[in-house]
Amino acid sequence: MAAIGVPVGARVLDLGAGTGVAAAAAHAVAGPTARVVALDPGRTAAVDGVATVRGAAPGLPFAPCTFDVVLAHLVLGHLHDPRRALHDLVRVLRPGGRVGLATWGRTDDPPPGDAADAAERAAHACWDAVVARHADLDAIDDDAEALVPWEATFADPAQVRLALVGAHLRVASTVGRRYPVTLTHAEWLDRIALGARSRALTARLGPDAASMIRSEVGQALVAVGVPDPVTGVDEVVLTVAVAPFRGPLPR
Ligand SMILES: C[S@@+](CC[C@H](N)C(=O)[O-])C[C@H]1O[C@@H](n2cnc3c(N)ncnc32)[C@H](O)[C@@H]1O
Repeated sequence: MAAIGVPVGARVLDLGAGTGVAAAAAHAVAGPTARVVALDPGRTAAVDGVATVRGAAPGLPFAPCTFDVVLAHLVLGHLHDPRRALHDLVRVLRPGGRVGLATWGRTDDPPPGDAADAAERAAHACWDAVVARHADLDAIDDDAEALVPWEATFADPAQVRLALVGAHLRVASTVGRRYPVTLTHAEWLDRIALGARSRALTARLGPDAASMIRSEVGQALVAVGVPDPVTGVDEVVLTVAVAPFRGPLPR
């Protein structure tokens, strides 16, 4: 929120709000006079002081220039048509308004000899090994890619900037952040269950089989000695962009 510069009393749209984490952070900074709207095509968690709206981009149910700030926290990779979605986002943003995006990815190479995510990689290897006994992993990966069609592309910050410039936004800053994460086996399994690969698995095999596989993965984590808690690193790129001023040219 500091990088974006969310003003007190701002009109803020959290696009693809889901958990509401970005809407809550914006509301905390912009204060009680702010108008924060959390929009998602699916369920949005209730957040005090934040209005929830069902909808999607493109097709945002708002008039032009409704918002001072639009946030898209870990959403870009999920959009099926990011080009049209970004143009629609610019439509609802006032001239000079700001966009704050978080995408999975990194701005530079990992530090040499970085072993911070070794336990997490071991946990993922367990998931792969167990799932491979029940389903075709390549097919699961194909299905997962269809669920988040642009995640791999937008892991590259240059692609994020290109997409923003294509929507006539000016990129103000790009910053990479590394967040250490520590999750018990149960928390790690819960987190994985929300991901595209688990959702693809559930869609293929059904919820009962997916839940049985989850238990098997839990046992495998213990059997192969994956540390509990699992420590890892989340790497995200924070990009801030500014909407053009479209007012009449000065005489
Ligand atoms: C990984 S979740 C991120 C949720 C939340 N922003 C967070 O960071 O916890 C991606 C969200 O994007 C939403 N989404 C997918 N397609 C969308 C679209 N076209 N317009 C708006 N939101 C969309 C999904 O429903 C989902 O809630």
